[in-house]
Order: sequence, then C-alpha cells, then structure tokens
Amino acid sequence: MLNEVLRALQSEEIVSGGELARTMGVTRAAVWKQVTLLRERGFNIETVGRQGYHLISCPDLLMEPLIEHDLGTVWAGQRVICYDSVDSTNRVLKKLASEGAEHGTLVLADEQTGGRGRRGRGWLTPKGTSIAMSLLLRPDMHPSRVPILSLGTSVAIAKGINAVTGLPVRIKWPNDIICNGKKLCGILLEMDANEEHVEYVVAGAGINVHLTEIPEEIQATATSLDIECGRPVSRIEIIRAVLRAAEETEQMIREGRLMETYLALSATLGRPVSVQGVRESFTGIAESIREDGTLAVRTDAGELREVMAGDVSVRGLMGYV
Ligand code: BTN
Repeated sequence: MLNEVLRALQSEEIVSGGELARTMGVTRAAVWKQVTLLRERGFNIETVGRQGYHLISCPDLLMEPLIEHDLGTVWAGQRVICYDSVDSTNRVLKKLASEGAEHGTLVLADEQTGGRGRRGRGWLTPKGTSIAMSLLLRPDMHPSRVPILSLGTSVAIAKGINAVTGLPVRIKWPNDIICNGKKLCGILLEMDANEEHVEYVVAGAGINVHLTEIPEEIQATATSLDIECGRPVSRIEIIRAVLRAAEETEQMIREGRLMETYLALSATLGRPVSVQGVRESFTGIAESIREDGTLAVRTDAGELREVMAGDVSVRGLMGYV
C-alpha cells in the first residue's frame, strides 16, 4: 500500500486524498497514515489546500516506485524487487530465475549479510551505504560467448556512473570499476547453462556509494562515490542510469561494437601488470583484451601469455590499478 500511495504521488502534481482513497478502496485516514509513514521515512510531502498532497522530494531509499518512475527502458528493470536485507542479491535472483523470472528482472538490497565476491571472496554491503544490484539476463547465446556479458556489464556500470556524476571512471580488467586508482565497484556474473545454451545469467554489481569510512584493510584500494564527488550521490539515480546503459550495452554487443567502448575505458591496457596465478606469477605489459575476456600479457622475457579472469589476479606494478 505504501508503494501504491507513492506511485500516485509521483504521477501527479497534486493528489487528492479523497480520490486516492476511492481508487484504492480504502478510507482517507488509511491514505493519510501512509503519507505519514512516507514523511517519517524522509519524503517531503506538502499538504495543499484541505485534502491534497504534493510530493516535493524523495530520500535515497531503495523502493520500487523510485526506480521505476519514468525509467524509459524496454526490458532492464521492468520488474524491480527491493529487500531491506538478504544474504546475497545474486543468490536471491538465481532462485527467482530458476522459477521463471523474466529477462531484465532487478533485485536490490539495502544490506547484504553474505555478499559474494569474485574468486571465492566475500563482498561487504553495510546497511544504507551501497548498491547491491543483480540483473537477470536471458541471452540467446552459446555459453562460450558469456564473457562478453561480463565486459558489457562493466561498460554499463561505468557509463551509468559517469552519466550521473561525471567522474572519470575506468575499468580494471576484467571488470572492476575504478576511479582515481581505487575500486568503486565489483562485478560478479553467475550463470546456469548446458553445453549448448545459456539458461540465464545473473549480473551482480556492488557499488560503494555512501561509504565515507572505508574499512582499514581495503583503505588503500577502495573508494566510494560520495568520497570521489565530495557530496552525497543518489543511489536511485545511479541504478536508473545503469539500467538505461545496460540496454545501450546490449545493443552494442548485438552490433559487434562493444569492444571499442570497453577498450577505450580500460585502465589496464598498455600498462605494466603483475599476474598472480595459483602456480606461477609473472610481470609484463597488458597488450590486448579479447571478446572472450582473456588478457594477453607480453612478459618481461618477450613471450605473449594469455590469462583468464577466473584464474589469476592482476595488479598494476605501481599500485592497485
Ligand atoms: C568482486 O569481487 O569484485 C565482485 C563483487 C560483486 C558484489 C555484488 S553485490 C551484488 C551481487 N550480490 C552478490 O552476492 N555479489 C554481487
């Protein structure tokens, strides 16, 4: 009911409490109660005349109507599900996908208690500070082509962040989003596929937004949008911009022009890197990145070595990037 009242307030300048009560089939007092609840959550709602409500401003809360209103996408975020707290948005969305959820379904959480990171690591999403988002993709492609979706996801996030903040974000191979040498966002794709066909891909992203005190163990390598911009950045605006960029990115992939954008945003290409695998480590220059997600490194000995995202950790020689 709260979402229904919020949707009504978003759709018109002034909403009559009486009319809203009639269309919703509830009493005026019930509508007033929801308006009070919204005010308590930080919505600025003016009372106009005797019975009208006017929505002036919204807080940065993860609520479905705030994402959906005038979004302008065709598939990305056509169904949005927000949670206060889950273990992992990727896990929740994988379950929904196995039950038939549609391409473009978006799961958001204000807090994750068991966020998953790449290469078996965890991911921190403390309450109210970050974006934990998972977008369901049902691509018509062979499983061997899935790595391009991982590169595409990083392009969509970089473009979305840049559209809202203007920050000079770049992509550290394979898909960390960085700003001024520190990590803003991590991406984890999980898929269900057989040998021939991809059933679904869950594209999960964790974006640091309102974190102003970075935990000590990651202080040297992590940052947040509020820190980089020097002002509070709206999670809602970022999510909406990423959804729009996801549709543009899908188009780029379909038209075979994603790589030029990815490479233009790459912070790794042409840079000296240190590659750490399970069995061996080496240093060299990042020479190329292919559509299948592999990174080719010219070693100091002049040999060309290809590495896969899942197998190695790559760091710049002069720091994290
Ligand atoms: C990384 O290790 O860099 C990837 C981190 C990915 C974290 C996001 S947060 C939303 C989604 N749900 C998860 O459990 N993980 C991803």
